[in-house]
Amino acid sequence: MCGITGYLGFREAYPIVINGLQRLEYRGYDSAGIVLTSTEDKLKLFKTKGKVAELKKIIENNNSTGNLALGHTRWATHGIPSTENSHPHISNSGNLAIVHNGIIENYDTIKKELIKRGYTFKSETDTEVLVNLIEEVQLKNNCKLGKAVQLALTNVVGAYAIAVYDISKADEIIVAKLGSPLAIGIGENNTEFFIASDASPFIEYTKDAIYLDDEELAIIKLGKKIRVRKINDDSFVEPYIQELKLNLEQIEKGGYDHFMLKEIHEQPNAISDTYRGRLLADKGIIKMGSVDNNITKFLNAKRIIIVACGTSWHAGLVGEYLIEEFARIPVEVEYASEFRYRNPIISKDDIVIAISQSGETADTLAAIKLAKANGAFVFGICNVVGSSIARETNSGAYTHAGPEIGVASTKAFTTQITVLSLIALKLGNLKGELSNSKFNNYLQELKLIPSKVTEVLKINTEIEKIAAIYKDAPNCLYLGRGFNFPVALEGALKLKEISYIHAEGYPAAEMKHGPIALIDASMPVIVIATKKGHYEKVVSNIQEIKSRKGKIIAIVTKGDTVVKEIADHVIEIPETEEAFTPLLTTIPLQLLSYYIAVMRGCNVDQPRNLAKSVTVE
Ligand code: F6R
Repeated sequence: MCGITGYLGFREAYPIVINGLQRLEYRGYDSAGIVLTSTEDKLKLFKTKGKVAELKKIIENNNSTGNLALGHTRWATHGIPSTENSHPHISNSGNLAIVHNGIIENYDTIKKELIKRGYTFKSETDTEVLVNLIEEVQLKNNCKLGKAVQLALTNVVGAYAIAVYDISKADEIIVAKLGSPLAIGIGENNTEFFIASDASPFIEYTKDAIYLDDEELAIIKLGKKIRVRKINDDSFVEPYIQELKLNLEQIEKGGYDHFMLKEIHEQPNAISDTYRGRLLADKGIIKMGSVDNNITKFLNAKRIIIVACGTSWHAGLVGEYLIEEFARIPVEVEYASEFRYRNPIISKDDIVIAISQSGETADTLAAIKLAKANGAFVFGICNVVGSSIARETNSGAYTHAGPEIGVASTKAFTTQITVLSLIALKLGNLKGELSNSKFNNYLQELKLIPSKVTEVLKINTEIEKIAAIYKDAPNCLYLGRGFNFPVALEGALKLKEISYIHAEGYPAAEMKHGPIALIDASMPVIVIATKKGHYEKVVSNIQEIKSRKGKIIAIVTKGDTVVKEIADHVIEIPETEEAFTPLLTTIPLQLLSYYIAVMRGCNVDQPRNLAKSVTVE
């Protein structure tokens, strides 16, 4: 996820664009850049690694005049955060400038083609490939920029929101969108235009906006009405100009009250971004460069040790179930903070997988260093590109969940599980533990998960009602079995960290070994009782709670009739493979914690005593 913005009009563009970038920083903040054009001075390009504040310092002592500017704040996907990889990118001839939010999946093939034609590249980014492709198409077809962008995009696989302009004709910007957001603000009588990933950069200048649909391209020209055309069939569409009613804060949070809620709702997209380009279900392949390049190590591993903290540790536990189930490789899951200090036995045949959203957690980093010093191959699963853990590990896979701002981890958890599912399935198939037909069925089902998550998100009002009933409970118990035992732990963690209600997660069968003593009429017990996963046994556990008058909130598979009869409340989720249920059962638990915390007046996005990135031990 990145933020893009731009301005074309009669005002000085720089203050508008730099301000806009600051508002878009929630979308990514590892590097930033601006390109400016004025009549006397064609191109001014400023880029830097770091936040927008760093960029501002660089530009401060330079000439920043100009009535056209494009800006970008980056969340690295291809290439580490660095000045070279920062946007905007300029084409080889120096004529075209581009900013891009998204991922061009087939950039490598296009790049090889362009290199054959003599193009050179300064960065490792997919975006520099795209701007040169546009240039090549324009030169070859001798056409206008809008047409060249359109033709180039028909060769592109992936997601994009782009803004491109020809530096020698600075009265026109071409924008296009597929899968990434793009809003255009329109000034009075088309005397000025604003471009941005959301409307926050221009909300004080205009309320008239067009939100482009997927596969649309807009030609924005000073003094002219915006023309919107379809990328694939050449037809023009009448743009719908809507009046913005939101305020600035609402826009940054995408209309949600909190970042946490926004991030919960982002999960369908985040999960598909995680498997984009990796899960090729139609071809029956999982393509993961970092696993493919080290495949002998993975296939010969005698043991996999997963190290992580907090929510990432819970994802690791799901990973243990997944890898042992599919690939039949023994897995141990360790708290990084324990692992680093307990003189663990590590051998050269072990693979250590370190999981971290931030990529900066001190305990996880120390565990990695220890594992490496003992000769293990360390594989990272991180969200933040170029983070310390991403750099310290021997290899790894990014989750591509986009920035997670809410302190309570949500989309990081489900995307970590997605990466672990891909690895487990791939190894299982290659080791011959999972037949091709079973493997293909799993791939098809994994592909359906984002739409099933969307379905679960639709029951938020029901969950809100349940939250209202239990918001004052002093304690809460979470139970699950098998793949859903770690989900019970994660549900309890989510509730305690944001609502300050004491909560415990247990494997359901463990209840009778102690926690059952806590159950009385005032104890809410959240039970994950989906079909397949030891269903009958969990139903017996529910009966045990009921006979002690405990209040049962059950997460069940759609159509369940048995638990419905016993539980006080049921939350239905769509059916899926047992191994993928954590990706669905987690969602209602996140929402339940969220609503309870809001009703208790807690600071959901920044709970007390916590930090997003724990860089101390
Ligand atoms: C809980 C939460 C924490 C983190 C933990 C590890 O919602 O966010 O438990 O999961 O601090 O952080 P990362 O994944 O950044 O290493």
